Amino acid sequence: MTKHIPKNFIEQINARSNIVTLIDARVPLKKSGSNYKACCPFHQEKTPSFNVSESGQFYHCFGCGASGDSIRFLMDFDNLTFQEAVESLAQLNGMSVPYEENTSVVSNKEKEFYELGLACLHDAALFYYQQFYSESGGLARDYLRKREIKKRSVDTFLLGYAPYGNQLLEVLKDKYSLDVLQAVGLVGHKDGRFYDWFRHRIIFPIFNAKGQVIAFGARAFGDEQPKYLNSPETKWFNKRYELYGLHQALRSKNKGKTLIVTEGYMDVIKLWQYGLTYSVAALGTAVGDTHVTQLKKRAEKVYFSFDGDQAGEKAAQKALEAILKQYDERYQWRFMFMPTGEDPDSLLEKQGIEAFHSIMDGALKPSDFLIRLLEKQFGETRSVETNARLAQQVQSWLGFITDEVYQHFLKDALKKHFALPDLVVSRVNAKTVGAILRLLNPLFLKNVLLKRKV
Ligand code: UTP
Ligand code: MN
Repeated sequence: MTKHIPKNFIEQINARSNIVTLIDARVPLKKSGSNYKACCPFHQEKTPSFNVSESGQFYHCFGCGASGDSIRFLMDFDNLTFQEAVESLAQLNGMSVPYEENTSVVSNKEKEFYELGLACLHDAALFYYQQFYSESGGLARDYLRKREIKKRSVDTFLLGYAPYGNQLLEVLKDKYSLDVLQAVGLVGHKDGRFYDWFRHRIIFPIFNAKGQVIAFGARAFGDEQPKYLNSPETKWFNKRYELYGLHQALRSKNKGKTLIVTEGYMDVIKLWQYGLTYSVAALGTAVGDTHVTQLKKRAEKVYFSFDGDQAGEKAAQKALEAILKQYDERYQWRFMFMPTGEDPDSLLEKQGIEAFHSIMDGALKPSDFLIRLLEKQFGETRSVETNARLAQQVQSWLGFITDEVYQHFLKDALKKHFALPDLVVSRVNAKTVGAILRLLNPLFLKNVLLKRKV
């Protein structure tokens, strides 16, 4: 039987141990205000962005986002399991770990439930896939044919068809409980009745990086809303972390060194058909901090491809912000924009792969994109008032950057390009410090940590 460590012991041990002594023995820390600093042991950097708070008993790296308490640190730094880390911490503090036997049943149950959910999601994907090729899948096949989706894409991405009615429920209810079917987001519940969540839609299974089906996106055939109905957020699926197509991209011949991030399911599949087998899509949300962290684990060079519409422009700015916050010179980020009114899918159909390649060749670095963006917003000949607003924008963009060296050079470039006075860029440091102090507020960080653990 597996052993379980009671929660209150974890609290006791956290109260007894001091994270500063613990980390300092492994990574020498320097006092900085009321906190301690070092170069982060979890990513390469030249200027220290790894902070340890004695009062809050946690660490946080502004460079790579690593954060946690003493136990988390031991797990990641000493490469220990949770239990081993607690053991090690207990030993340091002259305590012994009081294991419980019976409560472990709960965690086993949870694990079992999770596995069951995965099996259920997998079975559902196969059911939809089979439906696609069955008699009732005729419309779905016609639809994808019209959209130039080939059979080999259907098979690689396991595309499917969700039929009318409650057919999935009927097929899976003997094998899985309603609890499981609801928890994974395949079955809804209203007025005492259970029903299939996806009906008469084209199904796009969403895989995690390991290749397990964790959710679905489902497109309507016509103009019904929503155009894409997605699985709700579940224990299996957190859309801020997942990227559509990542599983297939990681297994492509490119080996994940380069990734193209698009906005849609169809874009990923079309690019794959045209030989660009390493594209992914954010799942109905803008690319944010968590996606950038994921991308860093998977690629060295990332192209962000944005649609030629207002939503695309907005999404590009969000992505730029996320990149500036986590800037690290080991990665290459590029921004590319589709012509007005086009997305990669439509561009490929109208102009072929050459057009996409040539946009890719002209993709902008973050600094060039920022300059272009500010130029577009504020124009080339500016009034005093416009200049003042530009200055404010420059300050807030620079304020996102935690990498001091990068900030220095970007400051310089913006100053020269827009002929800004010294005082505009010299104020940025003060703003950055303000932002960091806000972030270091223990209450704020506790919230962040709690969220990360779920
Ligand atoms: P788009 O509206 O650009 O759709 O949404 P698309 O990818 O071009 O799809 P097609 O070509 O019309 O079939 C981009 C992405 O945003 C998410 C989906 O991931 C979609 O691929 N989205 C969009 C939703 O999740 N729900 C929606 O209702 C619409
Ligand atoms: Mn499209």
